[in-house]
Amino acid sequence: MHNVAITGTGVFTPTETVTNDELVTAFNAYTDLWNAENAAAIAAGTAEAKPHSSSDFIVAASGIERRHLLDKTGILDPARMFPRFTPRADDQPGFMAEIGVDAARKALSAADIKTADVDLVICAASNMERAYPAVAVEIQQLLGAGGFAFDMNVACSSATFGIQTAADMIRAGSIRRALVINPEICSAHLEWRDRDCHFIFGDVATATLLERDEGLTALRFKVISTRCATQFSNNIRNNNGYLRRTTDAMEDRRDMQFMQNGRKVFKEVLPLVSKHIADHLDDANIAASSLRRLWLHQANKTMNDYIGKKVLGRTPEPGEQPNILHDYANTSSAGSIIAFSKHSNDMASGDKGLICSFGAGYSVGSVIVERA
Ligand code: COA
Repeated sequence: MHNVAITGTGVFTPTETVTNDELVTAFNAYTDLWNAENAAAIAAGTAEAKPHSSSDFIVAASGIERRHLLDKTGILDPARMFPRFTPRADDQPGFMAEIGVDAARKALSAADIKTADVDLVICAASNMERAYPAVAVEIQQLLGAGGFAFDMNVACSSATFGIQTAADMIRAGSIRRALVINPEICSAHLEWRDRDCHFIFGDVATATLLERDEGLTALRFKVISTRCATQFSNNIRNNNGYLRRTTDAMEDRRDMQFMQNGRKVFKEVLPLVSKHIADHLDDANIAASSLRRLWLHQANKTMNDYIGKKVLGRTPEPGEQPNILHDYANTSSAGSIIAFSKHSNDMASGDKGLICSFGAGYSVGSVIVERA
């Protein structure tokens, strides 16, 4: 068995941002239009007027202040309310591949590794742009990486599940280096016309480079242990899929976008994640008190505050459990990796930390690391 280390990470951040106020202005204009168009039905009691959203609610309920998006114009157009992407020809790089390559190059450059020395590319994300060829194979080709590549989807846990998959292959000796890439174009799966969730997501791509930890001397994070778990639930669900085209009903169906029962998710996922982390630390013989940092999935600030307190047995000190939600919103599987990438450079040799993501499935994945 070989040891594994994370030697580099990279984050691609779209330049366009949308504040809560901008988002709420567009949403409220959309509801005003809709209510005017449906005034007769609302007056007759056969339709319900759509209520306004509010920036104060969004910050209080989620901790989100703004989000980065690949296209804001379509989302802020009250007559449209979804992003506008110009379709790309088959001989052009896909959207996911393009942003994934950007994040991957940053991770490779952080570790000073040549792309040709990468043996495995995993594209792990909540949605795939097409059925095949795998986005990962396109990324492998655009980078000029060697070996092989494949896609994985474990929703918000895709990054940690990808890290465990790559780490296991490095441990077994079948590969030496792997890139786990998480291009999350969440804006395309969000229903921007649904008040309950229109503020939740942003776009981003992250990449994590894992290597066999032999002869490495540069700053890195040793992977001490990884653990994944799943338990079926319908509370976060998206029914979009290829069988859609085999049904007669091709109308604009709400269930073809992200759907969640947020309250139930809150109640059910918190104990699941807290227990998962406690058991993982116990089995790895690591006391929670010895963790310098938690890089948690970024879906909701209250949720993360709760998990941080439960794991550490006290309220985390500022910096012990970094949040990037205010700036990025929920970026699905990429969230914990953004937090890790942006808030880990100050750690000293021997400091331990835990990356943890959770979400649809339900799924939860954790990675215990130590600075070396
Ligand atoms: N603006 C203003 N008010 C809103 C609103 C909005 N955009 N959205 C909902 N409200 C209202 C609701 O109508 C409700 O009003 P009522 O009490 O009069 O019925 C009230 O605010 C509370 O709504 P609720 O949906 O219960 O809010 P919440 O506190 O549960 O927060 C989430 C909503 C989605 C932020 C929260 O449930 C959450 O983050 N859950 C976990 C999500 C998660 O981890 N998902 C994984 C995805 S990867």
